[in-house]
Parts: sequence; C-alpha cells; structure tokens
Amino acid sequence: MEDRVIVFDTTLRDGEQSPGATLNLPEKLEIARQLARLGVDVIEAGFAIASPGDYEAVSRIAADVGQLEHAPVIASLARCNKADIDRAWGAVQSARRNRIHTFLATSDIHLQHKLRISRNDCIEQVGEFVSYARSLCADVEFSPEDAGRSDPEFLYQVLSVAVAAGATTLNIPDTVGYRTPEEYGELIAGIIRNVSSIREKGVIVSVHCHDDLGLATANTLAGIRAGARQAEVTINGIGERAGNTSLEEVVMALRTRPQFYNGADTRIDATQLVRTSKMVSAMTSIVVQPNKAIVGANAFAHEAGIHQDGMLKNAATYEIMRPESVGWNSTNLVLGKHSGRAALSDRLKQMGYDLTREELDKAFQRFKELCDKKKVVTDADLEALLADQLERLNEVYQLDHINVTTGTGNTPVASVRLIDDKGEPREDAALGNGPINAICNCINRITRVDAKLSEFHVHAVTEGIDAIANVTVRIEMTAEDGRKYIFSGRSADTDTVVATGRAYLAAVNKGLSRGGRGQAVDAPRAATV
Ligand code: KIV
Ligand code: ZN
Repeated sequence: MEDRVIVFDTTLRDGEQSPGATLNLPEKLEIARQLARLGVDVIEAGFAIASPGDYEAVSRIAADVGQLEHAPVIASLARCNKADIDRAWGAVQSARRNRIHTFLATSDIHLQHKLRISRNDCIEQVGEFVSYARSLCADVEFSPEDAGRSDPEFLYQVLSVAVAAGATTLNIPDTVGYRTPEEYGELIAGIIRNVSSIREKGVIVSVHCHDDLGLATANTLAGIRAGARQAEVTINGIGERAGNTSLEEVVMALRTRPQFYNGADTRIDATQLVRTSKMVSAMTSIVVQPNKAIVGANAFAHEAGIHQDGMLKNAATYEIMRPESVGWNSTNLVLGKHSGRAALSDRLKQMGYDLTREELDKAFQRFKELCDKKKVVTDADLEALLADQLERLNEVYQLDHINVTTGTGNTPVASVRLIDDKGEPREDAALGNGPINAICNCINRITRVDAKLSEFHVHAVTEGIDAIANVTVRIEMTAEDGRKYIFSGRSADTDTVVATGRAYLAAVNKGLSRGGRGQAVDAPRAATV
C-alpha cells in the first residue's frame, strides 16, 4: 500500500464555516500561500457557488497559489447539480492542478428530511453529476455526506456508482462526529473490501471527521490505519460546531509513531506548523486554547518541579517531540527603530508574507510608529501588525479618534470619531457600565447598528510593559429577517483602548458590508450545504 497520506486542507472551506470566522480575500490569499509553504497537497479554497465573494476567493487562489512551481491542487466544493459544478469549475479552472469536490448526502435521515429524495434518486444524481464533473475536470472527488450514519450496504452501492462515473477520490465524511475510532476504521476497511473498483481503478479513499465527541483526530488516524490515503483537515481543527480534524495533530501523530501507522507519512514541513497556526488564529480571531496539542502555548511548557528536573537531565523524559520540530522557538530576529524598509521587507519575506509595494508601505509606516513606542519589534509583533492591517481593508468606517474616561466613582464615558466611506467625520459620546461597554455603545450610536459584544479577549503579544495588546471580539447583530448573526474583529495596538475600539469597529464593519448577514447563530451556513 502507498505510504504517503495526501493532506487535503479545508481551513478555507469547512474551517471558515466556524461561527464568526469569516475571512476577507487578502486574508484567504495569505493563508493559502502559507498552506502551500506548509506543503499541503490539496487546498479546498471555498464553496464557489456560496456567494460572489467565495467565487472570487477561489478564483484568485487558483490564479495565484495555483500557479506556483509545486502548486497544491486547488479544489472547490459543489453540490451534486450542474449549476454548482459549473461554478466550481469556473473558479478552479486556471490552477495548474484543479479538483471539483462534489457531494450528496446518503444517510436516510438526510435523504428523507433534508433532501426529500429516495435512495434511487440519490444514486441517479450521483451517477449523473459525478460524470458531468468528470467531463470538465480530470480530478473529481465525491463525498457521501453523513456517511458515518449511512447504511453501509447502500454506501457501497453509491460509491461504486461514483467510481464508475469517474470519481478519482472517495471521501467518507463523519459529518456529525458520531462514530468511534473502531467503528470508523471498520467503515473505511469495509468500503475498501466491498467496493472492488476502488482497487481496480486506484481510487484514493479519504477521511473527513468532525469533532463533536472529541474523536476527530482518533477517527482520522483509525481511517488511515484501515487504508485511507487522504486526510481532510483544518489548521487548529477549526470548523463547523466543535470543528474538524486538526492538521497538526494528524501530521505529528503519524511522524511520532511511524511503526504504529506502518510508515504512513505526509509531505508537510512540520517546522511551519506553529507559524500557520498563529496566522489562522489571528486572521479568524479564533483563539487557540493553551493546552491544544502541538500548537497551544502550553504544549511544550513544563510546570511541575519533577518534570523540569527531568527535562534538564534529558528532554526525552517528558517530551515525545522537540518543540523546534513543529516550529516553536524558531529564529526570532529582532528589528528596531534603526531598521529600514529593506530589513523589514526581508524579514517579512522570511516570515512568509508576500506583500505588494503598497502593502509594504503601509506595514513600514506602522512598523515605524510601533518603534516609537516599543524598543524591539519581534516576529510576533510583526505578525500582529500584519493581521491588523489585513483586517482593516475595505472598511466602511475608520477609527479617527477615541477617548475613554473611567475610574472609581464616575460612570465610564467614551467619545469616538469615525470617518465614513465618503470621508465625512461622525462623532458621538456614550456612557457604559464599563469602559469597553461605553466604547461599544458609542460605536453602535454612530454606525446605527444594534450589535452586542458576546466575547472579548485581550492578550499581550510579547512580554514587557510596552507589549502590543491583541484584542479579539465577537459580536451578535440582528439582521432585517430577525435572525442573529455573528461577526468577529481583531486589532493590535500598544494601547488596549485603541485596540478595543478598532476590533469592535472591524466586527461592525464586517456586519455592515455583508448587510448584517454573517453566520447565523441559530442556523449555521452549512445547514444549507
Ligand atoms: O462534513 C461534511 O460532510 C462535509 C462534506 C461537504 C464533505 O464537509
Ligand atoms: Zn465537514
């Protein structure tokens, strides 16, 4: 059996379906470039028919990352119908290597209650539309959605039809994270045993797991042990509800326990894992829990005295991987106020940022402003600045001025001046039950939105009194249809109040530019997938 496991990254599609994780086009491009550097084999760049913005993002990724010398395959998701497949093909067509990923549910619960079609209709649609996709693209993946709860005998039938119609990869989603590792491994083994055309035609079997019971990584690895040779994963495990399988966990499990997985390995450059995780966390505003395996801040921290003693004698006593092997403690060159544009540009290139001249000019200006407030500027500071810069593109309102008065014995009051998209200043003042609340109330008054702060995080990017504060917020906005939608925003500044105002405004801007429609709190976007 082939030892290589294909890494299919769906951070930009299933991952972006995490509530509030909406990414703008420059952010998606930057993440796609980093995924290529990380060495993923396939980038699922989006669901092209979902919106004009999704179509543009997939097309731009295909035209940019898809042209690299060792470009990953660029894929787009499509339901099993002509309009979706045409749109997916239109978006990925320009990539050197492209894929259409089409899916149709096969579980009785989905067939009866969601699609309202019979098993026979399902089989017919799979045959017709996989074959249509194959008439456009040589690389076609088919996913029987909710395979984890489908009748295995029916699944074998559908998968045989998909292979006969030209599918080159069969992906087996445990859409609702229901299976245990033993069951999921057996499901994969059963498919390989019973769908004889898989072996005859060299079709790749792929695993796609969700983490509702915290079993996504375990299920994915069980599937690989059973013979799957593609794993669908996301950075930091972000995704619908409890998320998808985390890329970094699968990659490092295979690499740390090669005998157990019979030498199955990926082409991932593991030293890029931490950097990729930080970029995705900053851009999606989804904070990585400190105890997250591989990429969490505490993943290699040793607190107990006994552990520290052991570590000093021999790191192998308490470490099964070296932190450097996944990108912790890699070179952290320091820049300062004497560093010029060339030094900054050089450092950013080494960090993997491919900026246009205009973007570099802006970054340099912010870097210089930062040097006035902070003696040394580290990679972490630059990452925070860049994430902040990308977040602020296409703003409806810009923050011009912010002032907050707070303290014991008085009611906190914020005054804010914004510049609207016509360049006109708009100012107001508002009271709040705390300084943050006053800022939010004031921005709501000026922008005339009814947004509510539902999450607020602040953390220092580096140590020291002059550290940059990274603020991430999540807000709920009620749209005209009465439904509540979530938006996230972030900002980085040496002044926490300024960073808070900008982060809140960034979330409001997202809401306004999407007509108040992001991911519904009660009905996430994938419900329509
Ligand atoms: O979880 C799922 O079923 C999916 C499919 C669309 C592949 O994401
Ligand atoms: Zn999924």
